[in-house]
Amino acid sequence: MKVLVIHGPNLNLLGKRETDIYGTISLDEINNNILSLAADIGIDANIVQLNSEGEILDTIQKSNYDALIINPAAYTHTSIAIRDAIAAIDKPAIEVHLSNIHSREEFRKKSFIAEVAIGQISGFGPDSYLLALRAAKSILSQ
Ligand code: DQA
Repeated sequence: MKVLVIHGPNLNLLGKRETDIYGTISLDEINNNILSLAADIGIDANIVQLNSEGEILDTIQKSNYDALIINPAAYTHTSIAIRDAIAAIDKPAIEVHLSNIHSREEFRKKSFIAEVAIGQISGFGPDSYLLALRAAKSILSQ
């Protein structure tokens, strides 16, 4: 069971960026938690952080994986290209956000990704990724 985890733009700044919203945990710590749970539940996780939309598209299209976990960050609200790439791959995708995008600014309430994802996990901080990993395991086990 191979799961690709994509962190979108600015998530490399976690721990320093808007800590009142995103907390003080760094991306490295989040990734260690993801890898640790993945090992526990028998998932081979490959994690990348990409700031540019084109690199995200290339990675979605070219990587070898069974399910996708993606935090598209700001591209959630703008990118029809990422939406179309996910629709094209015919693999389960889970949309993740640290913050609850529905309780913030109006522009964050629209996700172009949600309609092509199996589901969206939003608002649980770093645990959003761990919940997504458990969901991926469950989907791939069916
Ligand atoms: C985010 C929410 C987005 O609206 C924002 O642009 C981000 C992070 C989250 O994880 O809460 O960069 O995806």
